[in-house]
Amino acid sequence: MTVYTASTTAPVNIATLKYWGKRDKSLNLPTNSSISVTLSQNDLRTLTSVATSESFTEDKLWLNGKQESINSPRTKACLDDLKKLRVELEEKNSSLPKLSQWGLHIVSENNFPTAAGLASSAAGFAALVVAISKLYKLPQDMSEISKIARKGSGSACRSLFGGYVAWDMGVKENGEDSKAIEVAPINHWPNMKAAILVVSDDKKDTPSTSGMQTTVATSDLFQWRIKEVVPKRYEEMKQSILDKDFAKFGDLTMKDSNSFHSVCLDSSPPIFYLNDTSKKIIKLIHALNEQEGKIIAAYTFDAGPNAVVYYEEENESKVLGLLYKFFNKVTGWDKIDSSKLITDTDIVTDP
Ligand code: ADP
Ligand code: DP6
Ligand code: CO
Repeated sequence: MTVYTASTTAPVNIATLKYWGKRDKSLNLPTNSSISVTLSQNDLRTLTSVATSESFTEDKLWLNGKQESINSPRTKACLDDLKKLRVELEEKNSSLPKLSQWGLHIVSENNFPTAAGLASSAAGFAALVVAISKLYKLPQDMSEISKIARKGSGSACRSLFGGYVAWDMGVKENGEDSKAIEVAPINHWPNMKAAILVVSDDKKDTPSTSGMQTTVATSDLFQWRIKEVVPKRYEEMKQSILDKDFAKFGDLTMKDSNSFHSVCLDSSPPIFYLNDTSKKIIKLIHALNEQEGKIIAAYTFDAGPNAVVYYEEENESKVLGLLYKFFNKVTGWDKIDSSKLITDTDIVTDP
């Protein structure tokens, strides 16, 4: 009996303009466009292998060595879309094996904390969708495939591209135009670096999906953010990337992280993702920039306390030197296992 297999890795991406809010839950359409940087596959990544065979009667998923339910509506939505595209291929070419009718066995592993605010859902669903589209030999391009990954987890659509990526929210009700697009490839700004500061690898108590639903339903500030703040910032940030204007890019990145955490606080009940250590990192980076007289480092925090700090390579010793110094001196950092501090993270090669 033939078993067909495919494997892929997908990197995480860390948003510099945050997606937070859904206008359509089942299609996973966002209330605003977002921008991110895809990190190197050598660091935080998901590895997913898929297999299918006539003898597999059902779809199964193992995540980090444990069998998980395959029946979550989001995983199902991805599998349904991928199988539909495979059916189209099989109808066009009747000599193809009918993989669309067989069960899929999916084995996935993250080499970093899952559900801790380090974008595991992004790398996870990107890898799942890309591995199956490889197995099915689908001809669709990455932007098309990104629409399927989006249904698994919004941020996943951006992990299908390397470098600087935008997720255009789109205007259509059916989500046909809500997809990821490349803003610039990684070699456009080759001296950009990111350091990931793992403050805590605990599972977050408010998952992104439910957190953003609370915000949409209860925060007044959120309306201001999606209508007035983000649309302007989206254009400005894309331009700052094209211009390689770090001061502008860094300023917008830090402001947007703070805007996102503000709408979390403005939700009812309030959502707290930052902890005291996160706040110390924020102060430290501002103090560094102040001392330099310009922005040379920019922090951003996803839905968790862990920081990602962007900087240009020529400033590495200043930025990392200060962070290391801080590590040794400040008691709050004692809790951090320094082996989990991933520094000097080159940003991406194409996935
Ligand atoms: P994060 O900040 O890590 O993205 P989320 O709350 O957005 O946290 O999503 C975490 C969820 O994403 C996990 O509970 C799991 O359901 C899903 N997920 C994470 N990694 C994978 C993976 N490799 N394959 C499939 N699903 C995954
Ligand atoms: C703060 O993509 O994890 O990381 O679509 O519900 O799976 P779902 O949410 P998810 O949310 C990410 C939120 C964020 C910002 C971002 O990545 O843009
Ligand atoms: Co996520």
